[in-house]
Amino acid sequence: MTKTFMVTTPIYYPSGKLHIGHAYTTVAADAIARFKRMNGFDTMFLTGTDEHGQKIQRKADAAGVTPQVYVDGIVAGIKDLWKLLDIRYDRFIRTTDEKHVGAVQEIFRRLYEQGDIYKSEYEGWYCTPDESFWTETQLKDGKCPECGRDVERTREEAYFFRLSKYADRIVELYAENPGFVLPASRVNEMLQNFLRPGLEDLCVSRTTFTWGIPVTFDPGHVVYVWVDALSNYITALGYASDDEADFRRYWPADVQLVGKEIVRFHTIIWPAMLMALGLPQPKHVFGHGWLTLEGAKMGKSTGNVVDPTILCDRYGVDAIRYFLLREMPFGADGAFTNEALIGRINSDLANDLGNLVSRTTAMVERYFDGVLPKDALDCPLEPADRELRALCDGLSGRVGTLLDQLQFSTALVEIWKVVGRSNKYIDETAPWTLAKTEALRPRLAAVLAHLAEVLRVVSILVTPFMPSTGPKIQEALGLSTIQTTSWESAALFGLFESDRIRKMDALFPRLDLAKEMEALVAVTPGAPAAAPAATADAHVVPEGVALIGIDDFARVQLRVARVLACERVPRSDKLLLLSLDLGDGKRQVVSGIATTYAPEALVGKSVVLVANLTPAKLRGIVSEGMILCALDHGTYRVLTVDGEVPAGTPVG
Ligand code: MSP
Repeated sequence: MTKTFMVTTPIYYPSGKLHIGHAYTTVAADAIARFKRMNGFDTMFLTGTDEHGQKIQRKADAAGVTPQVYVDGIVAGIKDLWKLLDIRYDRFIRTTDEKHVGAVQEIFRRLYEQGDIYKSEYEGWYCTPDESFWTETQLKDGKCPECGRDVERTREEAYFFRLSKYADRIVELYAENPGFVLPASRVNEMLQNFLRPGLEDLCVSRTTFTWGIPVTFDPGHVVYVWVDALSNYITALGYASDDEADFRRYWPADVQLVGKEIVRFHTIIWPAMLMALGLPQPKHVFGHGWLTLEGAKMGKSTGNVVDPTILCDRYGVDAIRYFLLREMPFGADGAFTNEALIGRINSDLANDLGNLVSRTTAMVERYFDGVLPKDALDCPLEPADRELRALCDGLSGRVGTLLDQLQFSTALVEIWKVVGRSNKYIDETAPWTLAKTEALRPRLAAVLAHLAEVLRVVSILVTPFMPSTGPKIQEALGLSTIQTTSWESAALFGLFESDRIRKMDALFPRLDLAKEMEALVAVTPGAPAAAPAATADAHVVPEGVALIGIDDFARVQLRVARVLACERVPRSDKLLLLSLDLGDGKRQVVSGIATTYAPEALVGKSVVLVANLTPAKLRGIVSEGMILCALDHGTYRVLTVDGEVPAGTPVG
């Protein structure tokens, strides 16, 4: 029997401009759906639009059109955006779909007939922009506690859902299924803010406007928009219709992704509705963080938004998808800044991945006319080959586990470890040197075949995140679909087989930071150029210290080097020329420490070398790195290594 997998996004209010914050949930859902499809799951990725409610009716009135005409136009735009962002959903539901309308009416009728919905009178406060009811005590300074905007006093005859009846069962649901609400921190929020203070019954119909699903047995009432909207997750599968086959096949959903502000609807009201209907609960509801602008949720308080279309046109869809999934851990908030975006594109995509692809393919073309010997990977293995293989070993499993846990960012970090290691592997094996000696051709072929094979593996693993980048790399490598289409094929190192590799330039062109920042200010007016100063604890980080992430640090390759020889640079009082042993080769470094050290004092010492610094010329001499020193009032103190450590040992 085929395994099934269902993932959902919230359905979008077509009430304003869709921004990059909205795209965030949908890109994440798409990545997980693609990953599951590659693993052979029969996948149902459901998204859509939430088209009813007072807010939409007012917008349509203001625009002088009917609500239906109003939403039709916006929904078309949403579908275009998903197409642009390469979102491959399996089903798109609109809450104005006839089938959904009929099913919601049926759900409402069933709940009424079984006594879970009853008629009474509602008096309280309503936040129209959020479509939320609030009691007097829940208001914050007389405003909506969620968004801080004005609320309206409402008094009307209404139907109520017996939410209070399900409170204990919801608490039990959380206790028995620790993964039901994710991340786990959100469970406490729900318990403390809503369940422990006690749930009140929920008002589920409105009479003061008409743009909603009519209650069949009481004309004049329309169904509360959240009951209408939440039902989409099952009506889209045919629940309460004459064809429930998909419902039986895919429900319960495996993962429901929602922004953190709507977790309470999805982990209190939604489970209670399912309990009342006697249906199984989704396996996980994940409340992710927000993309923020100037410290606030994008789109909410200031109305400032960043338009994903502009960014995609400028940098390509895959770069934007990568940024969204890499920049912040999925449960946390993250600030959107132009600087962060350009930084990611330049360092991770242009420098790391792009360079690896262009260097590898260019060398295969230059040294082998694009055709590597078939048996190139069956060579005697050197330590660097083993290290590379060890990183690839189990990589697809590790990335898969992280994706199953929705840890997109960490999954990408894991893939980038092998990308980074491969770039170092090129520097260490120096294929251009191997190419000078005919007898070393088999070794040269082996090195390039290792790189091509790593790229095959990486091209598979990046595909859920960047759906056209993976195939582009595969095309350049001349791979067949057998080697690339399934996740499983990334698990085996050594499948590489290609008749012809073609040089591929600039998968992601490097951007000029200053120029881009200037251009972006004009096209993304809402986005701050750079992040505000770090707000870290002043005791830990002194003022003025720019923080870097662990990934930035990991980009610096520090290694132990033994000083083989040392001499003064002619006509310089300050410079010494050091010849260093790095275990797998030699380096020469020019260092400005001659005012402290006589050359012979350094010979034999084990020092720490920054080994991946771009070479520079000092007094006409090429310096291939830098050795670390402390500078104490004009006196240099070279960092040495305690004990006997082989030259070349990584430091970190
Ligand atoms: N219509 C409801 C959902 C009903 S589901 C039964 C809704 N729609 S929405 O259009 O306002 O938001 C859709 C999704 O986009 C939500 O998950 C919301 O959290 C997400 N985002 C909107 N702005 C966002 C950010 N700035 N950052 C991240 N996600 C954001 O809510």
